[in-house]
Amino acid sequence: MATTLITGGTVVSATGRMQADVLIEGERIVAVLQPGSELLGTDLAASVDTVIDATGRYVIPGGIDAHTHMQLPFGGTSASDTFETGTRAAAWGGTTTIVDFAVQRHGERIQDGLAHWHELAAGQCAVDYGFHQIVGGVDAEALAALPGLIDEGITSFKMFMAYPGVFYADDAQILRAMQISARTGMLTMMHAENGPVIDVLAEQLVAEGKTDPYFHGIARAWQAEEEATHRAIMLADLTGAPLYVVHVSAKQAVRQLAWARDKGQNVFGETCPQYLYLSLEEQLGASSERWGAFEGAKWVCSTPLRSRAEGHQDHMWQALRTNDLQMVSTDHCPFCMTDQKELGRGDFRAIPNGIGSVEHRMDLMYQGVVTGEISLERWVELTSTTPARMFGMYGRKGVIQPGADADVVVYDPAGHTSIGYDKTHHMNMDHSAWEGFEIDGHVDTVIARGKVIVDAGQYLGRKGDGRFVRRGLSQYLI
Ligand code: URP
Ligand code: ZN
Ligand code: ZN
Ligand code: ZN
Repeated sequence: MATTLITGGTVVSATGRMQADVLIEGERIVAVLQPGSELLGTDLAASVDTVIDATGRYVIPGGIDAHTHMQLPFGGTSASDTFETGTRAAAWGGTTTIVDFAVQRHGERIQDGLAHWHELAAGQCAVDYGFHQIVGGVDAEALAALPGLIDEGITSFKMFMAYPGVFYADDAQILRAMQISARTGMLTMMHAENGPVIDVLAEQLVAEGKTDPYFHGIARAWQAEEEATHRAIMLADLTGAPLYVVHVSAKQAVRQLAWARDKGQNVFGETCPQYLYLSLEEQLGASSERWGAFEGAKWVCSTPLRSRAEGHQDHMWQALRTNDLQMVSTDHCPFCMTDQKELGRGDFRAIPNGIGSVEHRMDLMYQGVVTGEISLERWVELTSTTPARMFGMYGRKGVIQPGADADVVVYDPAGHTSIGYDKTHHMNMDHSAWEGFEIDGHVDTVIARGKVIVDAGQYLGRKGDGRFVRRGLSQYLI
């Protein structure tokens, strides 16, 4: 079996940092050698196949992005990253595992939707991948199929309180699904926005001629997010279901989560880099020579970017520090401007929803370490360790310890990353939502299950390196 030694670096975990060498054999970590270890200073380096000198750099567990939508059919088109291009971009950015959303559409069997998702991903991925199940049609047959997913390694499912006529589930449907979640321990994931209310507001805005992307953010008012978050919490309380609210962007929704957690409920929340850095005013309201006011379409996603004047972004950072929010995922769902976002020129309701960020999450969150928003350890916790625990992969993923998969990133705090379409990104998009962002750090080396797949600005992996991860039940519940 091939052996690799990562020497001289600072190994960072969710709970601390230490000088240590990491020994990899085949696909697994076999030893973490701290100062004082007998093996340190012996000629170990001479006996391994590959030595990676990590002096002056951080050695962290590979990133886990637990919210991606490769190839998602949405708004009459499909997300522009395939499993091949999207997972390669993830690898470039230090993410070695994604959890994507298999889709069951209304009228389709869960098993068929899932089988189709396996077909799309199998043999295509650069990094390991798991699935959550989207339940787009909560009927008796779908409900009956849910518990069987556990044996397939799928232990979480997402429902939508938004998007009437597409993925929307009403309260009665949600209640029934949550009863199954409570009984089986499967995690209920919720898109918490009041869709029917948003649709009325959007229709009224368009009737008034307010059709630019900016009004997507006005229609999707924070009250609709807070209300749905509260309703989801109460239905979870009633049924005993563990609840994970995805892509939280409103500070008022965070307060609902904090309230529920203080009551002792198994309620959790993630936010995404866009809700930490971007805003309604600056991005959704942007205008450019090329696109005019349609420029903002690049940042149309749901939940929407929120007002900076109202202070949502600062509140998201604070919630990450206080553990009112537990994780950062990307909700990677890219669409090109030409041909895709363009569908909604003249009516923001027809702009496919989503932003591409899978490549930049580790860097964007590291910048939060640089600016003092979060600690180095919290960075690892938010981007790798908690995602592993939350979604039943911990021990194998999310930690550098003997027996774990050798998913390791060597990160250079003295490096620099300029993000932008023409410069560094590998996602299949004709623009970047992050053009011009400068990061005081750099992903130098990425190892996925023992294989170096990115090093010194070169992609060394191959399509099909990534395998399906069968997940267990959440290891994060109270
Ligand atoms: O805008 C978004 N978030 N697109 C992806 C679908 C979803 O709701 O997560
Ligand atoms: Zn959603
Ligand atoms: Zn999503
Ligand atoms: Zn680079």
